[in-house]
Amino acid sequence: MTIGVICGYILFKMSAPNIDTIVSLAKRRGFVFPSSEIYGGLGSAWDYGPLGVELSNNIKQSWWRWLVYDRDDIEGIDSSIILNRLVWKYSGHEATFHDPLVDCRECKFRMRADKIEGKCTNCGSTNLTEPRFFNMMFRTTIGAAAEEDDPAALAYLRPETAQGIFINFLNVQTTMRRKLPFGIAQFGKSFRNEITPGNFILRTREFEQMEMEYFVKPDADHSRLVDEWVDSYVEWFKALGVKGENLKLHEVPRGELAHYSKRTVDIMYRYFPERPDEERQWEELMGIAYRTDFDLRSHSSKATDSELQRVNVDSTQDLSYFDEATKERFYPHVIEPAAGVNRTLLAVLMDAYSEKTNDKGETRVILKLSPQLAPIKAAILPLAKNKPEIVGMAKAIKRSLQPVLRAVYDDTGGIGKLYARQDEIGTPMCVTVDHQSLEDEAVTVRDRDTWEQERVKVAELAEYLQRRLKAAAPVQPVAGSSTLEI
Ligand code: GAP
Repeated sequence: MTIGVICGYILFKMSAPNIDTIVSLAKRRGFVFPSSEIYGGLGSAWDYGPLGVELSNNIKQSWWRWLVYDRDDIEGIDSSIILNRLVWKYSGHEATFHDPLVDCRECKFRMRADKIEGKCTNCGSTNLTEPRFFNMMFRTTIGAAAEEDDPAALAYLRPETAQGIFINFLNVQTTMRRKLPFGIAQFGKSFRNEITPGNFILRTREFEQMEMEYFVKPDADHSRLVDEWVDSYVEWFKALGVKGENLKLHEVPRGELAHYSKRTVDIMYRYFPERPDEERQWEELMGIAYRTDFDLRSHSSKATDSELQRVNVDSTQDLSYFDEATKERFYPHVIEPAAGVNRTLLAVLMDAYSEKTNDKGETRVILKLSPQLAPIKAAILPLAKNKPEIVGMAKAIKRSLQPVLRAVYDDTGGIGKLYARQDEIGTPMCVTVDHQSLEDEAVTVRDRDTWEQERVKVAELAEYLQRRLKAAAPVQPVAGSSTLEI
């Protein structure tokens, strides 16, 4: 698809054609490296490099600002990764957080029974073992003297950040004097012993989540609230640069709902545009679930089941809420938008990716990251690195910008190469210091997307760059403004 012509280059490819293109760019330019590579790697584990960690932090900061700062009804927390084992007993994860596993008797390949159609995905054989359940929580033992199989020392790495929020519900509600409805947000690492991890950072055993539990009254319109949060997140993803045409909604069928959910809508992203079968192009980016009062009841000391038996004999607290207005006590219900940092990062990279090719067949990669997410906001480049005055002025400009925005200095190539490198990692603006700068105290600012150049006084540079970055950042979304249909 031809989009336009800039400086002899024809813009023709928008969005990455497949995940492999991003794997190669990510490794080449320091976003993501295969983990433990010097020892042959560790299946599906990835390390975030200097640019990847910035991009990931910017995504989490954008999310935090959007929910915790811009709204008035959400608090943030950061709970432990290793929690009391009883949390996972009463959350239902010990009993139900498992996947059906089968082995191929021909090639010994192991896979999830619910993701295949009766055939080995490696060799096509139908000679498979009977499915057996496998709990996906990573186990560990607590204490220096603990024996490997000592049940008293058994603990798990959390498979979702959500439970750390539920067990702190009362702490947050009372210390922050919150009334319903309000939410608690948390991001951090989660761990799942996935049977078939893969597709780069899409499915890994260690990953990061951004979860928010929104507590509401039992008689709230839960289905409408799910729809509203779906709409808000679609708009948030678009504000990050994810394209609307690469997002779609999926109403999870009743039989496939998680044990705690009464309704879940997944926001899907087109991670596999190269697949001819349209249905197979999509994978879950995040889910929005109506978790009812399942979790708060399960962790509460006074909650009872239909036979009036206590559902939890170990909890020392009752996580119920007293409504001053109606003088009623009840367990709040929960709407949960649960997103993956890594999957968001991959979607952002795929849609930011574009290529330009000139008539000599030379291709340039331009990463059109939203300025709020770009790892580096401005690169300061000296036109001549053998001129100490120019180098000194460029370094001084870099230092002066650093307190207000992330800037880097680079003199490791000719100016054309330096521009190309910054385009490839998504730096919105390059600032060039040349011979004339020494005379007129001005620099050239080059735009990543249009390649247009403007002369700006050094004294006005910080304000100019900040204004440009702000103008390019989309407004944060409000609820109920999406146009996607389920
Ligand atoms: N608390 C609800 C919950 O954890 P989930 O759908 O299992 O729901 C939420 O996970 C999000 O976490 C997913 O939509 C996905 O973005 C991310 N996620 C889950 N498992 C993952 C994995 N193995 N690798 C990378 N991201 C994962």
